[in-house]
Amino acid sequence: MKPPSIVVLTGAGISAESGLGTFRGPDGLWNGIDYREVSTPAGFARNPAKVHEFYNMRRRNGLAAQANAAHVALARLEQEHDGDFLLVTQNVDRLHEQAGSKRILHMHGDLGRVRCTECDAEHEWLTDLSTDTVCPSCGRSGGMRPAIVWFTEMPLYLNEIGTALKNCDLFISIGTSGNVSPASYFVAEAKRHKAATVELNLEPSEGATLFGDARYGKATEIVPAFVDEFLAKTAKGSAPT
Ligand code: OAD
Repeated sequence: MKPPSIVVLTGAGISAESGLGTFRGPDGLWNGIDYREVSTPAGFARNPAKVHEFYNMRRRNGLAAQANAAHVALARLEQEHDGDFLLVTQNVDRLHEQAGSKRILHMHGDLGRVRCTECDAEHEWLTDLSTDTVCPSCGRSGGMRPAIVWFTEMPLYLNEIGTALKNCDLFISIGTSGNVSPASYFVAEAKRHKAATVELNLEPSEGATLFGDARYGKATEIVPAFVDEFLAKTAKGSAPT
């Protein structure tokens, strides 16, 4: 029997135990900060220094963080699973790569990259940005911004993700509240193509009722347990869920 094709979607909850804040809920980033000011093109046009301050802080924290047992378990799943595998993350940290994941798409961008709004060139960038930062490609200053997908902008890799969802047998959603589209639609799309669906989260997400199966608890506990169970089952040639 052909091994199942897997798509995993992750959100901020998988990095919470690495010390990176989630967005929603009482301690969420968007509870203390207005996303329209720091995470939209209009906010950047109004006050670029404020946007740089916000992302400089997130870049420093994100790049200093350590991958946790949930990131490591997903890297192991990719390595040991025989079938197709794609990890789609809404996270802009690099903890999946740090843990060893290879087939990964950052649909909301990457904290370690910047883009020049003057010439559109993208660069790897691991230090702070300011309104004086000069673009290494065009030599102009003032236009450098984080290579992050902001609200009102189009997420990345939607064609590749759509194809993977169409062909997957198992869709696993981890640590995401299901508040932000189009990621919140992925479970319905996977189901439409007859995939089994599983939610692994601290608590039921907005779309919890759409999933065929669910485990609730901390990512560092439930993700390694799920991966162990899945690899043990598929090694015996059983069905994917
Ligand atoms: P949210 O903050 O909306 O949701 C995080 C989810 O993780 C919640 O459902 C929590 O219950 C769960 N959670 C928290 N701690 C956890 C833990 N230790 N183990 C497992 N689950 C845990 O974050 P996202 O769904 O990722 O976009 O948010 C989606 C997008 O909204 C982000 O990519 C970001 C944000 O605005 C942009 O900035 C464009």
